[in-house]
Amino acid sequence: MEGLVVEMCWALVLVGVCSVLMRVLELVWLKPRRLRSTLGRQGISGPQPTFLYGNLPEMHKIQSTIARPPNDDHRVSHHRWSDFIFPYLQQWTHQYGQVYMYSTGNKQHLYVSRPELMKEFNLHKSLDLGKPLYLASAMEPMLGDGIIKANGRHWALQRKLIAPEFFLDKVKERVRAEIVELCGDRHHYRSPDMDTLHKLKTLTMVIQETLRLYGPGVIMAREVFADMKFGDLFVPKGMHIWSLIPSLHRDPENWGPDVNEFKPERFARGISEACKYPQAYIPFGYGTRLCVGQTFAMVELKMMLSRILSNFSFSLSPNYRHSPIYRMLLVPEYGIRLLIKEV
Ligand code: HEM
Repeated sequence: MEGLVVEMCWALVLVGVCSVLMRVLELVWLKPRRLRSTLGRQGISGPQPTFLYGNLPEMHKIQSTIARPPNDDHRVSHHRWSDFIFPYLQQWTHQYGQVYMYSTGNKQHLYVSRPELMKEFNLHKSLDLGKPLYLASAMEPMLGDGIIKANGRHWALQRKLIAPEFFLDKVKERVRAEIVELCGDRHHYRSPDMDTLHKLKTLTMVIQETLRLYGPGVIMAREVFADMKFGDLFVPKGMHIWSLIPSLHRDPENWGPDVNEFKPERFARGISEACKYPQAYIPFGYGTRLCVGQTFAMVELKMMLSRILSNFSFSLSPNYRHSPIYRMLLVPEYGIRLLIKEV
């Protein structure tokens, strides 16, 4: 009897160990293989992943070999900063095209920079497409449970409540209240009204071109929570989808050979005339998760810049170091040093 109990215990331990092993095997080997072969069958390729680490070693290698401009390089014409921030994504785009897959450990990613396909992703309304869960939990201490990282019904509810607060009429009210609070009322300061702001065409073009080359939003990341179709492409549950906004904003095919030059006049006849595929100009994202603060941010920028420009002129300080860097947003590594003169 005692021997039978011992044997049963061993059998239970064996079943336990086997099921844990099967689970690990499923996570690190079978599921990644399944996801990759589903995409592979549709003609999508990418760098060959290593076991357990995926393409992480190659990513580190490419990142460490790319030469950043030296710190004392003050050239301000260097607008190709995105090559230095995610060099592996750029390199693989050259090798595998505008849509490819890669892997980080057991996570499988689909990189997309083809404008038509991005449009499909961004306009998809399903709540089964959302922010990657692993990024959301990593950002929780900073962003809490707010709209930026929320998914599903929780996100939809927050969006419904928050978005109307940023409609243009309310943004009117808001910015004006802020200006009056900070700059005094109309007897003491002449702030531009909405009509004037709309008429500030050159300023708008300068802001649009700045957001094209230096928009603070860099990455758009999603996780596919259920099997889905985007146009002709079938994307299986569990894939992570990545797009780099700067690579869309720097596609010479879309913007022309002067893509890396700061030329506000390209927006003279509006966004629809500035490039071939206007849906690929997305400093505020696009579609379902479009930035709710877009109008607010544009009005604030125009208000702030018009206030500064009406009182001061400014130029770059010789001490300015041009070093855009990615810290969840694009930021100037050494700040922006300006020489300011009262006019
Ligand atoms: C120049 C300024 C800004 C830029 C370039 C910008 C850019 C973006 C981008 C690219 C996204 C989409 C991210 C994605 O698709 O994953 C986004 C989302 C968002 N932005 Fe902005 N943003 C700006 C200012 C603001 C401001 C001023 C606010 C609020 C006051 C704001 C609130 C949000 C929120 C709440 C979301 C998430 C929307 C959602 O997930 O449904 N943004 N922003």
